[in-house]
Amino acid sequence: MIRINQDRKKKNVKRESWGSQAGFLLATVGSAVGLGNVWRFPTVTALNGGGAFVLVYLVIILLLGLPVMIAELTLGRAGKSNVIGVFTRLAPRSKWWLAGVLPLAASFIILSFYAVIAGWTLLYIFSSLAGFTAGLDTAGLASLFAVLTETPVYPVAAQAVFLILTVAIVVVGVKKGIERWGLVLMPGIFLFLIILFIRTMFFKGVWSGIAWFLRPNLAALSFSTVLDAVGQVFFSFSLGMGAILTYGSYLPRDSDIPRNSFYISVVDLGVAILAGLIVIPSLFVFGLDPETGPGLIFITLPAVFNTIPLSMLWATLFFLLLAFAALTSAISMLEVIVAYLIEELRWTRFTAAAAAGAGVFLLGVPAALSRGVLRGVLIGGLDIFAFLDFIASNLMLPLGGLLLIIFVGWVWGVRKAAREIRTLGVGFRLEGAWSFLVRFVVPLAIGYILISGLRPKG
Ligand code: PFF
Repeated sequence: MIRINQDRKKKNVKRESWGSQAGFLLATVGSAVGLGNVWRFPTVTALNGGGAFVLVYLVIILLLGLPVMIAELTLGRAGKSNVIGVFTRLAPRSKWWLAGVLPLAASFIILSFYAVIAGWTLLYIFSSLAGFTAGLDTAGLASLFAVLTETPVYPVAAQAVFLILTVAIVVVGVKKGIERWGLVLMPGIFLFLIILFIRTMFFKGVWSGIAWFLRPNLAALSFSTVLDAVGQVFFSFSLGMGAILTYGSYLPRDSDIPRNSFYISVVDLGVAILAGLIVIPSLFVFGLDPETGPGLIFITLPAVFNTIPLSMLWATLFFLLLAFAALTSAISMLEVIVAYLIEELRWTRFTAAAAAGAGVFLLGVPAALSRGVLRGVLIGGLDIFAFLDFIASNLMLPLGGLLLIIFVGWVWGVRKAAREIRTLGVGFRLEGAWSFLVRFVVPLAIGYILISGLRPKG
């Protein structure tokens, strides 16, 4: 009995870590690059006047995104633990561990509906390959979208398949599962993006779309542009949910956190801009409205592809891109929960990943059915999708992010954080600016946004 306990203790002490710097970078970029870049960014940009939004987005990345990413990676590496464990380790005998509950719950909820949309991308890979999307115009594609998302069996089965893939990767572990698959999937994502980008540049009239996307139309700026940009940065950078923190906890001591955060931010921004340059000009060229919601990528874009030769190839590449990007992000959300279950509840990785995957699946079933049999079901005036998105993205993420940043700025302290960053001689030239942002600018901005987000719309 004593032996078993000792073995267990030993097993608990030993944590996994990344096999290489490149592996960590690709996995973390994989978490950041997802549906948020390829679908959400072009849509939000289109709704906010194009170039003006891109400009605000850049500023918010510098003021909020980058500093919070540095803070999360540092917290994770210093605490060498999951999203609850870092607080119990760095502030023992306090109630700060409660700050980890929100990110944990948010991972669970966001993954549940993220997997539904990711499941649709799987259905569309299959549909494009099988030729179901071929030759259809917008009306035909809208009917196909209705069939695929409203017939109960398709969205639920696709969501299940997507989650099984996610669990299968996380079960294998940090180095052999998450890192290895990042190395496989990320180059695929970059390749598909570049091919689609080059193809888009050959559309006639593409430049007016590009100009609209990049020209800062300052008249379109409003306070809601700023709110949307903050929400988009948090979502796209995977912040406030413990994903970056958990990935940071597997970092070796000699890694350069500020530099890595810079690289991750630049790549995530680059992918968003590239996706914007693919999606928005295509719509312009074909005189289509950059409409909101899933219609944009599941109806309008396939209609655009259908007007050019080899339409099946472009549609398949586009949905593969979405599915790969969604998978590397979903892995990071599941790992937040799995790391907690392994370290705090002493579950094995297998049980943790399988049980978390099953729980996420069950929670997501109502979302998967929300366009079909559960259409019209409202919670607090919102449909199931919108309700889950609202409580997780508008309430839990900002509040979780706020508590996390207050902890780093004021409780654990920027001094200790900076010391952690500088371990083993790593330089941190912007320490002063970072400390100021983390202590004052970020908490005030998030606090303000949280209060505005709670205001009833209308
Ligand atoms: N960053 C991902 C995207 O842009 O799609 C979504 C995401 C992943 C959000 C992981 C939060 C997270 F913890």
